[in-house]
Amino acid sequence: MAPLKIAVAKGRIADTARELLTEGGIGFPDVLPDERKLIITSSSGTHQLLLVKPADVPTYVEQGAADLGIAGKDTILEECKDVYEVLDLGIGGCRMVVAGFPDSTPDAVQTLKVATKYPNIAGSYFVQEGIRAEISKLHGSIELAPLAGLADVIVDIVETGATLRENGLVVLREIAQVSARVIVNKASFATRTDDVRQCLQLLEKGVGKQHEATDGLAAD
Ligand code: PRP
Repeated sequence: MAPLKIAVAKGRIADTARELLTEGGIGFPDVLPDERKLIITSSSGTHQLLLVKPADVPTYVEQGAADLGIAGKDTILEECKDVYEVLDLGIGGCRMVVAGFPDSTPDAVQTLKVATKYPNIAGSYFVQEGIRAEISKLHGSIELAPLAGLADVIVDIVETGATLRENGLVVLREIAQVSARVIVNKASFATRTDDVRQCLQLLEKGVGKQHEATDGLAAD
């Protein structure tokens, strides 16, 4: 049987996925600090982690190059791929918002200039709200756009709110709650149902344990 392939973003999400699966009895060999391997196979050979860029996780899963993937809700909404979203891991929580200067009036301008890393999410949101928007896709430092006169508002994720505060911006509207979700390839779900379900249970159980540990610390 081929290993079950799980596409994960390099870094924190990949580390978390390894920890959760290891807690469930699927161990992985230690990764050396300077290792550049992009496929990590479990010691038993039953599972593989494919290390990809966050925005590419849904593509790997939709195309069947990975059976499962872990991606932020922001990426899932932006990429609009044909996959099942099956589990909210409840980690990496933040919000997708419209933000701008405190006196911004998104409804009152004829064409709202919007800067964002998420043009699909922003486009759908403003269509739904009946606001005409001209969207500029940026790749980072989104909060700079209103300050530099490139945009009236931004659509971006907010975690602590520090970046907005330090740049004199505020949340004007909330679009969605964001957290890490597990997505599954549709064919894999049909043909490898037991393997997929077992993997989901391990991830779910592992997250539950991590939450319990955190709650315990908070109660101490
Ligand atoms: C993200 C996001 C915001 C910031 C929000 O940017 O685009 O700029 O984090 O976090 P905060 O609410 O805790 O301040 P990221 O750090 O990914 O950098 P980027 O500007 O290069 O996209």
